This record gives sequence, structure tokens and C-alpha cells, in this order.
Amino acid sequence: MENGNAAGERGEPVIEVEGVSFSYGEEPVLEDVSLVVHRGEFVGLVGPNGSGKSTLLRILLGLQTPQAGTVRLFGQDARRFRQWWRVGYVPQRPAAAAAGFPATAAEVVRAGLLARASVRRLSPREERERVERALALVGMEDHAGRPIGRLSGGQQQRVFLARALVGEPDLLILDEPLEGVDAPTQERFYVLLQRLRREAGLTILLVSHDVGVITAEVTTLVCLNRRLFFHGPPERFDPGRVAETYGFPVSMITHRH
Ligand SMILES: Nc1ncnc2c1ncn2[C@@H]1O[C@H](COP(=O)(O)OP(=O)(O)OP(=O)(O)O)[C@@H](O)[C@H]1O
Ligand SMILES: [Mg+2]
Repeated sequence: MENGNAAGERGEPVIEVEGVSFSYGEEPVLEDVSLVVHRGEFVGLVGPNGSGKSTLLRILLGLQTPQAGTVRLFGQDARRFRQWWRVGYVPQRPAAAAAGFPATAAEVVRAGLLARASVRRLSPREERERVERALALVGMEDHAGRPIGRLSGGQQQRVFLARALVGEPDLLILDEPLEGVDAPTQERFYVLLQRLRREAGLTILLVSHDVGVITAEVTTLVCLNRRLFFHGPPERFDPGRVAETYGFPVSMITHRH
């Protein structure tokens, strides 16, 4: 097994998007998007509101079908892909759906093991231990028994991160997962992602509006505004291009130290 993804070293392709175009109605949302993500890469996906980021993620997950182009996951056509336990996903704003939902934090996290059960059934004890470990990873172990709807927004978000991690996925797809999460938890989460990437070869695709923070964390930056405006290492990213992507000048490239 290879360890991590040293500079210049490329793992096998995990996501292959080729010539994808999509529209919900008349207006094109994505136009001719092509993108390959390799094993162990940490990709930050940025772009203004409505630029098609969440739509692209939903296409990757087979939740939307593009009008043109192809998507492959782990080398397999996404429409035929069945190993969903290999993919952890945190949708944008899952907390809204959780309000008033009666499941406890631990039960929400355990749901992240469902896809895995089709491969190998875990004993109740193994399940419990995994759920506890995942909750501990996001610092929510003391809230395991609380109904998700009665946690704060940031706490709920942490539970959804735990649900995405509990099945030990090979690919994490995160749509603004840190919205509303406090700074220490964000820091810890990035440290955790980097460790999983190094130790387990985890591949990460993360949408964020926090361009300053993610350019300091990711191996690859992708700027989307219906089309791909940039795809490469963040250090090659010319802030002038942000204005081009966003359609107006933005001063938000502040590397974290
Ligand atoms: N279910 C839907 N039906 C019709 N149009 C939609 C639907 N979902 C999104 N859109 C439209 O598609 C475009 C892209 O939306 P998308 O959610 O992919 O943007 P985004 O880049 O994720 O934005 P944000 O940064 O605000 O999350 C927007 O113009 C949006 O209005
Ligand atoms: Mg979105």
C-alpha cells in the first residue's frame, strides 16, 4: 500500500469527470466540466453561490444525471457503481433536515454504517465501538444519547461529519461541512483529515467558501463557476483569477500560518 501522496506522486484515479454538462431547466448549471482526482489528493472546490458546486457533488454521487459527459468512481461508471460504503458524504446544511428528528446523535452516526453492512455485518459491539470512536473524533462523545434535533447547529454538523467517517471511507465528499463549526473544532478536523489522508490514503473533495483556509490545507484547488476556471496546486493559483471566477475582485487569499 502506498503511504500518502508525496509531491509529484500520483495515486490511481478515484474520481474521473469528463465533459459533464448539466442543467435543471433552461439555464446551464455546469458546462463541459472535466476533472480527475487521484487517490490521496485533498481537493478544495471553490466558487460563488450558485456556481454549480453542490450540483457537481450530487452528480458524482449519482443523485443527478448529467445531460452530457461521463463520471467514473474508482474506475467504474458512476451509474453502475455500488460500493457506496467507500464514499462518505456530508451534504450542504444537513442540520436543517435534522431539526425535530427524534434519532440520537449515536443513531445518526450508526446510519453511516448501513452501506457497509452489505459487505460485512458488524457485531453490535463492533458497531457501538465504531460509533463511539467516530463521535470522539469530532469531540461529541459526551452527546451520544442526545436527540440530534436538540443539539446546536455546529454540534449537529459535527455529528454529520462523524457519520461520514464512521464507515472508514476511501473518499470523503464534503459540502461546506464546517459551516457554523467553531474554530478549534475546524482546526482539529483539518488535522484529522490530513492524518487520514496520510495514513489511510483517504481522498477528499471539500467545498468551502473559506478560500484562505483551504488554500493552506489542500493539495489541489478547483475554481468552478459553471465552467472550471482553475485546477491545480493552490500555490500556482493567481488571486487575479479569483476576480475572473467570481466576476468581481475578491481579496480573500490569506494563507494561514
Ligand atoms: N433542485 C434544483 N432545481 C432547480 N435549480 C436548482 C436546483 N438546485 C440548484 N439549482 C440551481 O442551480 C444552480 C447551481 O446551484 P448549486 O446548488 O449547485 O450551487 P452552489 O455552487 O453549490 O452554490 P452555494 O455556494 O450557494 O452552495 C443555481 O442557479 C441554483 O439556483
Ligand atoms: Mg452548494
